[in-house]
Amino acid sequence: MRNVERFIGDKLQERKDNLSIRSLSTNIPPVDFCSNDYLGFARSGELKHMINSTLASMQNHLNGAGGSRLLSGNTRFTEETEAFIADFHQAESGLIFNSGYDANVGLLSSVPQRGDTIITDELIHASIIDGCRLSHATRFKFYHNNINDLESKLKLAKGNIFVVVESVYSMDGNIAPLLALSDLCERYKANLIVDEAHATGIFGANGRGLINQLNLTKQVFARIVTFGKALGVHGAIVLGSQNLRQYLINFARSFIYTTAAPIHNIVAVNCSYQYLSKIDHQLIHQKITLFRKALKENHIKTLSSESAIQGILFSSNEATKQAAANLQSKGFDVRAILSPTVALGKERLRICVHTYNTDEEIISLVNYLKELN
Ligand SMILES: Cc1ncc(COP(=O)(O)O)c(C=O)c1O
Repeated sequence: MRNVERFIGDKLQERKDNLSIRSLSTNIPPVDFCSNDYLGFARSGELKHMINSTLASMQNHLNGAGGSRLLSGNTRFTEETEAFIADFHQAESGLIFNSGYDANVGLLSSVPQRGDTIITDELIHASIIDGCRLSHATRFKFYHNNINDLESKLKLAKGNIFVVVESVYSMDGNIAPLLALSDLCERYKANLIVDEAHATGIFGANGRGLINQLNLTKQVFARIVTFGKALGVHGAIVLGSQNLRQYLINFARSFIYTTAAPIHNIVAVNCSYQYLSKIDHQLIHQKITLFRKALKENHIKTLSSESAIQGILFSSNEATKQAAANLQSKGFDVRAILSPTVALGKERLRICVHTYNTDEEIISLVNYLKELN
């Protein structure tokens, strides 16, 4: 066997041995407590109809973009959609990327320079970490949601300073102390970047996100909004100044060196934003409240979260995997989040609540969780 094949085999065996091997599956249990389709947009017949009829009304649209945005892949409709989304979120401008991963990598690898400092929450998403790794800036981490620790890192920072947080954390579901973060950034002249992937659609008027809800639109340097979670489609936008948009078009390599999304993807994004204004925004919160109330009544320990992401700690890969397998055998699509994705000892079931989960399904899931606890 060649050396590299042996290396790959050994690494996979290591994962199998500590029960953290990842694999793809098409065998998905029917009751969805796993996807990020919090508002049911990905499965909405009404939204599908809007998308299909908009596409049908567009003459001669191409099946593929045929090139990057800077070459043949740009359209007026894409630019109008960017302006529409920026306006919705009360931002000066926006630039669409092919995914949230691309948006974070593009933004963080291009704006902070050598001699600058990026300070991230320790639980920040992998796409932000990868963007930081591609940057020549110095990177510090601060303890999760810990303003004092952030301040101690700000005191060490040099050059232009960037503080990067998620408004709702993707694995814990809890919310960043955004007002305090914004005040501190102001005091240290640091630029606040907020990833709103899991807040969009859930918080703020008509799902505008937490930065809008807290009136911080003028305080943040940039926001990342992803379309693949509550919006039910695909892609992402970086919101910020006109200058930032122009800069990213010139320097963000994950924007420049990739084929633009096909127009049907942009139509889906545009329609999904229109659809946000048509739905009942209380429903998701009623479902979250019902779930949390049932957990509390049954004395099931959870991570503290007001969002659609709810974590139930099992504290080892083995116990978490067993709990997930048990619930899956009952028809619930619930996934184990294992180390190294989360810290050792913080392994958990990551349960996502959706508008389409019936009250009976929610109560039934809690009853099974009680048996496992
Ligand atoms: C906080 C956060 N940011 C960015 C991303 C990446 O977004 P996308 O799935 O569109 O690449 C995710 C998705 O996993 C996320 O949870």
